[in-house]
Amino acid sequence: KKYEPIDFVLFGTLGDLARRKLLPSLYQLDKANLLHAGTTITGVARQTLSNTKFVKTVRENIVKFLGEEICEDTWKRFAKRLDFAMINMVNHEDYKKLCEHVDSQRLMVCYFATPPSLFGDICKGMDAAGIIDETVRVVLEKPIGHDFKSSEVINDQVAEFFKERQIYRIDHYLGKETVLNLIALRFANSIFATNWDHNCIDHVQISVSESVGIEGRWGYFDSAGQMRDMVQNHLLQILSLIAMEPPTTLDADSIRDEKLKVLKALRTIDASNVAQKTVRGQYGLGFVAGKEVPGYLEEPDAIETSKTETFVAIKAEIDNWRWSGVPFYLRTGKRLPAKVSEIVIYFKRQPHNLFSDSFASLPANKLVIRLQPEEGVEVTVMNKVPGLTSSGSMDLQKSKLDLSFSEEFGDRRIADAYEKLLLEVMIGNQALFVRRDEVEQAWKWVDSIMTAWNKTNEPPEPYQAGTWGPVSSIALLAREERNWYESK
Ligand code: BG6
Repeated sequence: KKYEPIDFVLFGTLGDLARRKLLPSLYQLDKANLLHAGTTITGVARQTLSNTKFVKTVRENIVKFLGEEICEDTWKRFAKRLDFAMINMVNHEDYKKLCEHVDSQRLMVCYFATPPSLFGDICKGMDAAGIIDETVRVVLEKPIGHDFKSSEVINDQVAEFFKERQIYRIDHYLGKETVLNLIALRFANSIFATNWDHNCIDHVQISVSESVGIEGRWGYFDSAGQMRDMVQNHLLQILSLIAMEPPTTLDADSIRDEKLKVLKALRTIDASNVAQKTVRGQYGLGFVAGKEVPGYLEEPDAIETSKTETFVAIKAEIDNWRWSGVPFYLRTGKRLPAKVSEIVIYFKRQPHNLFSDSFASLPANKLVIRLQPEEGVEVTVMNKVPGLTSSGSMDLQKSKLDLSFSEEFGDRRIADAYEKLLLEVMIGNQALFVRRDEVEQAWKWVDSIMTAWNKTNEPPEPYQAGTWGPVSSIALLAREERNWYESK
């Protein structure tokens, strides 16, 4: 299926996200024949650049970031779509230039891949150029603000010109194949659907670890920190998908209504309980993959007194009927030993052990959903060890039912999250985008924790790069007689 011809306008076309992800993803969509023949792509930036130079840069970045040779047939088609518009994004008069690049008779999709401080100016400039109408779709990149108040300001600026149904707020985790699979897993399988509550589940762990450090963006990261950069968006979105009630349909608002209810039911963490329920850390010098790496405060451009966290662990609780008494442990950090994103659902133990003494109590069944890398789903079960015994006793062993995406669907390429999301914007489906009330609710919960942290004025707990974070994060589970899941 090819979608209607679209004038795609990419603000911030020379920025990191556009170069690494957005333009390569658009190219991949073209390669898969998913862009309409008439679709155009206009890159907007304030730098002076000829069209030829722009096209050349796009090609270089596609090769670099996809890490593969370009398909010349696709490139011929793709290059013809590209165009560059030099616009000073704070000068509203400048946006008139866009009229030469877009056609008012066609659908326009505008991607704001710029710092959010520019979103208001972009809207005003587009308005001054007279190119806004009810059909225009705008895509907003995160972060939407750095707390609830600032997110309101940004959302209001955009809402002055666009209705909520025109706004697509990106959380790229919602475009990941395995995150989408959560919906299928939960609602297309009765073995999970009927066991998905406090009667059967003991606790849930969501871990998103990265081995990289700050990668040349210390300034941005330091003003955000791991809580705003990862927890407020990606981890809370995953948590909502795991915990939400079944939506009535897969329509955007059915899903988003249910996710919002979960966010609203999150128990507040504030100064009274922040020390028991959260851990924040900052990495120091260490070794990752056998290589010595600097600590956060020794990175280029670092301010030595920074108290910004690069690691967060939280015990979250959801105050509703389904999840009463079931903790959701969240953990995310930079410079951990590996890049792994995993959800682990621990089921309750059997009440009584009928089997051999080798297990004081039978280990709990676990459902492990591997989001990345090595996407897959795994269930640990107890099995009888085959064979005869003179005592007549039955020996049990933990085994795995393991579904690896690459083995099961080896002939399918796993598309980058941005490919999926760009396609959804073109189709006009908002289900995988975050609604304003979700963003705001997530900020309120996060703000309360951050205010409590600031009150204590304590620095984050140090951890050595290449380890699984501060010791307190292990204690967070250990004091409840639980452990973090050790991925393979
Ligand atoms: C981004 C964060 O949203 O997600 C980055 O700003 C982080 O700090 C990235 O590295 C992780 O995304 P992924 O898809 O590589 O897991």
